[in-house]
Amino acid sequence: MASLPVLKYPHQILRTMSESVLKVDDGIRRIVNDMIETMYASPSCVGVAAPQVGYPLRIFVIDVSRKIGPKKNHGLLAMINPVLIYAEGEKITKEGCLSIPDFLGNVKRARNVIVRGLNPEGNEVEVLSQGLEAIAIQHEVDHLNGVLFIHRVSSLSSDLVRRKITYKDIKT
Ligand code: NI
Repeated sequence: MASLPVLKYPHQILRTMSESVLKVDDGIRRIVNDMIETMYASPSCVGVAAPQVGYPLRIFVIDVSRKIGPKKNHGLLAMINPVLIYAEGEKITKEGCLSIPDFLGNVKRARNVIVRGLNPEGNEVEVLSQGLEAIAIQHEVDHLNGVLFIHRVSSLSSDLVRRKITYKDIKT
């Protein structure tokens, strides 16, 4: 496994529609494992989509448990060819993205979702999700369609904020 470099906005791959995976094989599982390692390499990261690490394929990995603990989520979730088959409710959350490291944005998402796709063994799974995990699923599925959170904010002037500069961020 290897942690991969994350592409940054405005890289072209981040704006392309990713392709469906035709066969879940060892090559795909290697990509999934590298995505998991890439996610865990960033302390605040709760999800990575394949195009962010240079593969325009419909794959995401999510783990919100490292941020909110084990309650009300599925821990590590790796999904191939995910499709949102149900969404309900509305919630505005401040989102960030490894590909847009300097900004956070207020984004309106569904509160609860059901996503269907394949697990890394190639079996179909369906996941009912809520809270931060449901938000992360919608954020990652957007990545697979070439959509970033900055395209979801209703006002670039009031809903997009610069991340606070901390002492650690100051480079001389
Ligand atoms: Ni993102």
